[in-house]
Amino acid sequence: MTHLPERPVRVVQWTTGNVARATVRAILRRPDLELVGCYAWSPDKVGRDAAELCRLPEPCGVTATDDVEALLESRPDCVVYTPLHMDVDLVERMLGAGVNVVTTAEFLTGHSLPGARERLEAAARAGGASLFGSGMNPGYAQLLAAVATGICQEVRHVRSVESVDVSGFAADSNMDGLGWGRPIGDEGHADDVRSAVAVFEDGVHVLADCLALELDRVDCRIGFGAAVRDLDLPGRPIARGTVAGIDVRFVGIADGREVVELHQRWAMDRELDPPMPVDHGYRIEVDGSPQVTLTLGILPDQPLETLTIEDMHGIGMTITAMPVVHAIRHVVAARPGIVTYADLPVPSAVLP
Ligand SMILES: NC(=O)c1ccc[n+]([C@@H]2O[C@H](COP(=O)([O-])OP(=O)(O)OC[C@H]3O[C@@H](n4cnc5c(N)ncnc54)[C@H](OP(=O)(O)O)[C@@H]3O)[C@@H](O)[C@H]2O)c1
Repeated sequence: MTHLPERPVRVVQWTTGNVARATVRAILRRPDLELVGCYAWSPDKVGRDAAELCRLPEPCGVTATDDVEALLESRPDCVVYTPLHMDVDLVERMLGAGVNVVTTAEFLTGHSLPGARERLEAAARAGGASLFGSGMNPGYAQLLAAVATGICQEVRHVRSVESVDVSGFAADSNMDGLGWGRPIGDEGHADDVRSAVAVFEDGVHVLADCLALELDRVDCRIGFGAAVRDLDLPGRPIARGTVAGIDVRFVGIADGREVVELHQRWAMDRELDPPMPVDHGYRIEVDGSPQVTLTLGILPDQPLETLTIEDMHGIGMTITAMPVVHAIRHVVAARPGIVTYADLPVPSAVLP
């Protein structure tokens, strides 16, 4: 690993959606990061101030552009890449141009993107750049899982669990591929869910990397729960008897044994058939000696009575964005190639 840069790291923000609102706010607040450019995917965002697009009160003087060439020619140290979908060709081009990339978009190791991992690794090495993917889950939750094993003498199995009531975010574009409201037992539904959330397979590989495990394979198990009443959710109504709960387990197998697991449960209602209770957060479970559980308590930094759905959404985006923002300096200093939490120092927050 090389040294951390002493000057501010020159950063380009790629798109200005939900996660970007949190990355841009954080980048502008940090003296060791400098926002030098912003890419806009939507034509109507081109020419507008990046901070304004991210709903910040003051403009920042950086204008959004769709000129990819000009952004790469400005030789930023790092692109914060947070579009809705990963464009492998584009990221390959960034890395080949020597630009480091941190991302929340459908990439942690590339195992879930057939063919892409090798191409991105080769481009990164050729360009002398690094590529790092995270977010809360998949991402930071696997780092927490790895850390939780650090007090164990023996570990047999490690699981990270996310269980959330997602009814407040029903209309979000990130929900589109999950098939909410499809009939129970609909042919091909489990395969569609698997491909929509394939990046969780990468999360299994991140955890295995941190634990120095060689995996034989990663299995995926999907279960559904039905709505017990009609759900009148804004932008995504769900009829009684159709899918309103989804359980997704990605399981890493080594030497024929299940060793690591990412378990996600997303529910659109409190009551489902069969029942799918949620804890509203993240839990790590280590089956070992001793047995360890770690519960992540995430509470708003404001009086609860003032909390809006938008504020709650903002917390979700903050915990998604901060793991990549805090990693930027370490990723710039890291060896070229695809890097994971197994390669970086713990990317903690920078105090003012
Ligand atoms: N690991 C985690 O914990 C975690 C959690 C949440 C989200 N994520 C991931 O982070 C990424 C960003 O999420 P988000 O909620 O910020 O997404 P978003 O707001 O829905 O979209 C982000 C931006 O992508 C661009 N965009 C919209 N439609 C697109 C399309 N069809 N193809 C390419 N780009 C498109 C737009 O850019 P402009 O702004 O330029 O128009 C949009 O603002 C997603 O891949 C999401 O799955 C990860």
